[in-house]
Amino acid sequence: MWNQLGVLLLAAVPVIGRSDTSNPLTQGNDTAPWPNSVYSNATDTSNPVVAAGSKSNQTSPPWYPSPWGEGLGDWEAAYARARSIVSKMTLTEKVNLTTGVGWELERCVGQNGAVPRLGIPSMCMQDSPVGVRDTDYNSVFPMGVNVAATWDRGMAYTRGQGMGYEHKHKGSNVQLGPVTGPLGRVPEGGRNWEGFAPDPVLSGVLFGETISGIQSQNVIACGKHFIGYEQEHFRSAGNGFVYQVNESYSANLDDVTMHEMYLWPWMDGVRAGMGSVMCSYNQINNSYACQNSYVLNKLLKAELGFQGFVMSDWSAQMSGVASALAGLDMTMPGDIAFDSGTSYWGSNLTVAVLNGTVPQWRVDDMAVRIMAAWYYVGVENNYVPINFDSWTLDTYGYEHYYANEGYGVINEHVDVRNNHGAMIREIGAASAVLLKNVDALPLTGKEKFTGVFGSDAGPNAYGPNGCSDRGCDMGTLGCAWGSGTANFPYLITPGFAIENEIYNHGDGMYQAVLDDYAYSQAESVASQASVSIVFVNSNSGEGYISVDGNIGDRNNLTIWNDGDALIKAVSSVCNNTIVVIHSVGPVLLDSFVNNDNVTAIIWAGVPGEESGNSIVDVLYGKVNPGGKLPFTMGSSRKDYGADVLYKPNSGESAPQLDFTEGQFIDYRAFDKGGVTPIYEFGYGQSYTTFSYSDITIKKHNVGKYTPTKGSTSAAPVLGKVSSDASEYTFPEDITPVPYFIYPYLNSTSLKKSADESDYGVSGSIPANSHNGSPQPRLPASGVGGNPLLWDVLYTVTAKVTNTGKVAGDEVAQLYVGLGGPNDAIRQLRGFERLSIAPGKTATFTVDLTRRDLSNWDTASQDWFISDYKKTVYVGASSRNLPLKTVISGASAFN
Ligand SMILES: *[C@@H]1O[C@H](CO)[C@@H](O)[C@H](O)[C@H]1NC(C)=O
Ligand SMILES: *[C@@H]1O[C@H](CO)[C@@H](O)[C@H](O)[C@H]1NC(C)=O
Ligand SMILES: *[C@@H]1O[C@H](CO)[C@@H](O)[C@H](O)[C@H]1NC(C)=O
Ligand SMILES: *[C@@H]1O[C@H](CO)[C@@H](O)[C@H](O)[C@H]1NC(C)=O
Ligand SMILES: *[C@@H]1O[C@H](CO)[C@@H](O)[C@H](O)[C@H]1NC(C)=O
Ligand SMILES: *[C@@H]1O[C@H](CO)[C@@H](O)[C@H](O)[C@H]1NC(C)=O
Ligand SMILES: *[C@@H]1O[C@H](CO)[C@@H](O)[C@H](O)[C@H]1NC(C)=O
Ligand SMILES: *[C@@H]1O[C@H](CO)[C@@H](O)[C@H](O)[C@H]1NC(C)=O
Ligand SMILES: *[C@@H]1O[C@H](CO)[C@@H](O)[C@H](O)[C@H]1NC(C)=O
Repeated sequence: MWNQLGVLLLAAVPVIGRSDTSNPLTQGNDTAPWPNSVYSNATDTSNPVVAAGSKSNQTSPPWYPSPWGEGLGDWEAAYARARSIVSKMTLTEKVNLTTGVGWELERCVGQNGAVPRLGIPSMCMQDSPVGVRDTDYNSVFPMGVNVAATWDRGMAYTRGQGMGYEHKHKGSNVQLGPVTGPLGRVPEGGRNWEGFAPDPVLSGVLFGETISGIQSQNVIACGKHFIGYEQEHFRSAGNGFVYQVNESYSANLDDVTMHEMYLWPWMDGVRAGMGSVMCSYNQINNSYACQNSYVLNKLLKAELGFQGFVMSDWSAQMSGVASALAGLDMTMPGDIAFDSGTSYWGSNLTVAVLNGTVPQWRVDDMAVRIMAAWYYVGVENNYVPINFDSWTLDTYGYEHYYANEGYGVINEHVDVRNNHGAMIREIGAASAVLLKNVDALPLTGKEKFTGVFGSDAGPNAYGPNGCSDRGCDMGTLGCAWGSGTANFPYLITPGFAIENEIYNHGDGMYQAVLDDYAYSQAESVASQASVSIVFVNSNSGEGYISVDGNIGDRNNLTIWNDGDALIKAVSSVCNNTIVVIHSVGPVLLDSFVNNDNVTAIIWAGVPGEESGNSIVDVLYGKVNPGGKLPFTMGSSRKDYGADVLYKPNSGESAPQLDFTEGQFIDYRAFDKGGVTPIYEFGYGQSYTTFSYSDITIKKHNVGKYTPTKGSTSAAPVLGKVSSDASEYTFPEDITPVPYFIYPYLNSTSLKKSADESDYGVSGSIPANSHNGSPQPRLPASGVGGNPLLWDVLYTVTAKVTNTGKVAGDEVAQLYVGLGGPNDAIRQLRGFERLSIAPGKTATFTVDLTRRDLSNWDTASQDWFISDYKKTVYVGASSRNLPLKTVISGASAFN
């Protein structure tokens, strides 16, 4: 046997429980069964759902073995190629694919080892979800929250395509995006804007479209972050600026909430062919995301049938053997601490295979999944070598930056923008949400005197990229902060664009007061102006940067820089004050929303490089606003229910984030609590008006639901691994780059090579984790879930008429009340952005699938349709739903 040596060693391993995260034992403590325990008190046994909320300290039960990729769905051809090439690889070549070479040791933010012998280059993994990070001559696309505000599938796809194009032409093979984790549990969540909306259907659709767009360009999309990563505070151990914690927080959530909310968009991502997934920093039910066998092995790989590879967030890997067995496929950036020169994988993974703690088939599966994603999106078609460097913009420098080795041209400054500015401007305008308009908009361009106010109308005095990773709130908010950003090629400010508009098309006066606190100067201009436009903002980002005391997550929902006071000053002397809000999410509007002098309010989100042009298009009526809010604007933060945990609640051990609200976030919480928001989810006005009529519903002749049955294949074992350690030692012809992570052994002694102090006694192997025999398929499984979930059970149509005088877009929305005592009053299930000429009528059509009408049943671990009557609502927002129809007997489809 290939691993005789390993088997012998294995037999001698004592079982010692310790709180060492590198110990396979410590992940997945199965003392309390998860998830069924939460539901043992279900009140209605005929509908064995649906309790809200979670318990603290829930455990994620062990779930092994890690499912091996089978080439399901349309992955068959890619798998055939991947298996064929992996069969030719040696153990160290396979391990190379799985392990990053270390921080700042190659030119992209992450790169794995190459397989030169077989012509496979090191893959370039590059941020971000808004473009190509850390380079130049690239675009900054609108943030995810703006894509959500367009509610436009086509725009999500086109933006993905544009970003994919830019990645490809810089030589990036894996775009680290899009984002659907955070989903947006808490309105202050620092990275919510990177994702789409606190609704799984809106997020899922746009997540899938973005992935398809990116991958159409032969770039692998990396959906992130899996899963439960809903706030910045305490996402990692460390001092977090203020408090010391020794473990990342645990997102404690129950199985129903997991399926009906947080996991839902990932189904769409997997169905779209998502090539990779990034596991997150946090724990889920007290087990780290990158070694949580329940979420990676069971939910993602077995249930959702994910065929691509799982990569760790940067330093989110917490163990070697445990993470391998729990379903991690690639470690990034590869080293344990940045530039420590050590890795949980690399030589450790080679040793782990040789000593039998990780079965060969698992490493084969990692390599196959990575190569399959590569072939699936066709990275090798028109392959572009890396032509930029993430660590400097200098033309010349070191290829191995941290090691100061490989001097030469490292930045070719390739312009990859391909005229994407026009698309960015269009999406920016399409995402503007008109919240209030009392005969103020559109402007004519003939206004005598236009006053513009606020730092958000102007530039950052340090330049658009003057704050590293956009980590400040200076000038107009075109991009929030953190790793999910990119360098601006330029940033059109609102002031510049409005002045340009007046200069080109009018004969009016323009004066701007950009100091937020220059109240007397502002008032003196505003009192003379025929129209005053006040620009305000609210910002957030990733928690490694703190801006004005906001450690990623916002500390509050008020407008920054005392914007309320500026609005008050201007509106006290000008009865035609227009407020434009650039913000990452909801802000409190109470201080001015009902002020009669505030004649219009627009939420413009965080629109990217063309910000000013986009808002000018809307203000001057070149574009009729058609965006709708992708979240709720409430009148106080407590109306939202769930909130950020700002202070540790478990001393220095893992803060416990209990998702006790279950699915009741954002509009679901407002609806359940009977709280009236200021502007509800889905709300947005237009320069025209629309009416809704004639709802119809058609039932389709569809068979019953059949749980997926049968078994998987056995785990393929590809090629032979020699048990002779001398075959894997450091090749004599390689001069190692300092700090680099390699797959080789330093010595024929496995113990010495691993360099692990507790080598061989660190724990036991989780039961069943080495079992490569065929495994039963889960009832809910398939690529993205059981394919029957996408059967169309009903088609709903309604007529939408443009009753005004100008052409416009209307985002028609369909909500369903599933009817059970624990269900949301209504939840979004369909939407379409319709362009309608004045006087004309369009048909809004939604195919309601089995998934749309189902709940998750914890007992059978499957979806089912409850007996409760379903109510279907159609209209213009989550609270303006003039049309209604009822579905009875849908459970007959079970
Ligand atoms: C699992 O949890 C139980 C109860 O909290 C505890 O007694 C036991 O030590 C834990 N086991 C491990 C391996 O952490
Ligand atoms: C179980 O349900 C009953 C009835 O709804 C309720 O009174 C009781 O508090 C619940 N118990 C627990 C432990 O949740
Ligand atoms: C969670 O676990 C910690 C450590 O085991 C314990 O101290 C704490 O009391 C637990 N919290 C709850 C709410 O059970
Ligand atoms: C592993 O990757 C490194 C860096 O790309 C490369 O130098 C080395 O040759 C690779 N080793 C094998 C066995 O392919
Ligand atoms: C192997 O992993 C352990 C942690 O489990 C680490 O301490 C050691 O340095 C690693 N060895 C190498 C050669 O990277
Ligand atoms: C909210 O946070 C912003 C940004 O840090 C700050 O300017 C503002 O004063 C805060 N508002 C309140 C009411 O504390
Ligand atoms: C509205 O503006 C007018 C000046 O046009 C001013 O006299 C009035 O006080 C303002 N109202 C408020 C509520 O600020
Ligand atoms: C707003 O103010 C202007 C100039 O002060 C005045 O002519 C106009 O009537 C006012 N409009 C309203 C609605 O009060
Ligand atoms: C096998 O190697 C891995 C990686 O170095 C190490 O963590 C583990 O303790 C070793 N196990 C045995 C049984 O030697």
